[in-house]
Parts: sequence; C-alpha cells; structure tokens
Amino acid sequence: MEFLINSLLDIQNRYGYLPKEELKRISSKFNVPISRLYSIATFYSAFSLKPPAKHKINICKGTACVIKGSEVLEDAIRGYVDGVNLGYEPIRCFGACSMAPVVVIDGEIHGKMTISRLRKLVERGLEGGSTKT
Ligand code: FES
Repeated sequence: MEFLINSLLDIQNRYGYLPKEELKRISSKFNVPISRLYSIATFYSAFSLKPPAKHKINICKGTACVIKGSEVLEDAIRGYVDGVNLGYEPIRCFGACSMAPVVVIDGEIHGKMTISRLRKLVERGLEGGSTKT
C-alpha cells in the first residue's frame, strides 16, 4: 500500500491533483483495481481528484475574525466560488487577529476586510487581473 500512496503523492505534487489518466496508468502499472486508487485518494485529505482552482481564497473563522464579521464575508463570496476559477476554504486563526477580519487571497493576507473590498478583489481576480491591492 505504501508504494501506491507514494506514487499518488508524486502525481499529486506534479499536477496539483490526481488526473484520471494518471490513475489509470498507475492501475495498470501495478495491476491494482482503479477503485482501490479512488478509495485511497478519497480517504486521505492530501489528495484531490479535481484540478486546483485558479484562485484560492481563505477566510479566517477564528474567534476574533468571526466577531468582526468573517461569516458575513463568507456569505458574500459564496456566489463566486465555483472550484474552477475560485476555490474557498475556511481557516482557523491566522495569527493576525489585530487585523480581523482576515482574508487570504492567493496566499496574500488582507486585513480589516469589508464586503465591498472583498467583492472588488474577487471580481478583479476572476476577470484575469491580479487580486493584489
Ligand atoms: S482569529 Fe482570525 S487571525 Fe486570529
């Protein structure tokens, strides 16, 4: 089993996800049913079966950020998240509580976020521009 996990990790690191063609190749190379590869891929959170989104947004759900309105920000971006152009994952305290509510877009921290600023950043990023302010 370890050799299968290592092979899948190699693919995950190369592509950012596990493409179906690569799973078929591993299946025939090691003579392992593809269903077994899918069960490994869905069990471990290190694997994804979908390509990574073009842009990634994280909204802090730590106490300070929730008090300052991060849940309202989360609601505001729901309509934009499609998993292809924009992927979303909540995060726990990012260690920047004095800047609450904190949003991370493509790895860049944005503090004291407001709904209108967040919408502008997301729309600009989805139109092909930079999400950086
Ligand atoms: S609670 Fe959000 S950065 Fe600490």
